[in-house]
Amino acid sequence: MKFFVDTADVKEIRELAETGLLDGVTTNPSLIAKSGRDFIEVVKEICAIVEGPVSAEVTALDAAGMIAEGTKLAKIAKNIAIKVPLTWDGLKACKHFTSRGTMVNVTLCFSAAQAILAAKAGATFISPFVGRLDDVGQDGLQLIHDICEIYNQYDAFTTQVLVASVRHPIHIVEAAKMGAHVATLPPNVMKQLAQHPLTDKGLAAFLADWQKTGQKIVA
Ligand code: G3P
Repeated sequence: MKFFVDTADVKEIRELAETGLLDGVTTNPSLIAKSGRDFIEVVKEICAIVEGPVSAEVTALDAAGMIAEGTKLAKIAKNIAIKVPLTWDGLKACKHFTSRGTMVNVTLCFSAAQAILAAKAGATFISPFVGRLDDVGQDGLQLIHDICEIYNQYDAFTTQVLVASVRHPIHIVEAAKMGAHVATLPPNVMKQLAQHPLTDKGLAAFLADWQKTGQKIVA
């Protein structure tokens, strides 16, 4: 499973990239607004930090506008993935870009039917929003299960399932069991994956015993 980080905070991206565990970045207009920075400038900076795909989202609602915006965004760097919404116009723009070799992340997916359309439009990534479905009393992980199952039926469907709107580590573990290709995580959730109270407790006990030996591994 690839890990993308869902943020436009360059400091956080740099810190996570240093772990060597980061495969890409996703941004959206809300995350850009939260960063308080210029869109093009911040995306350019992110693309220089991370080698993998960096999603940059269009804001036009019509296909022609999305294509114009996406064409400009694609020029920022080779690792840009144009993010388009799952609408008819978004699907048209998706087809436009993927048939020209530009990566596309189709976002705001809330149903398996939508995911089938994205695969047919040649999307590189489909982003089902698990947390937002959970928030309205629907089962976000069931959607990941359904999409993985459907995509696995057809060799022609090469779209990668990118689990988005992740709220906690269980979303990641369950989606990984289903074979989802990618998850985009808020930085705090990525850090939570490493945490376990028994790890902390075990480490404290090992260090207390080690100190009793009076030894040092490196003098
Ligand atoms: O970037 C898309 C998605 O991950 C947004 O998540 O937390 O705003 O529902 P959230």
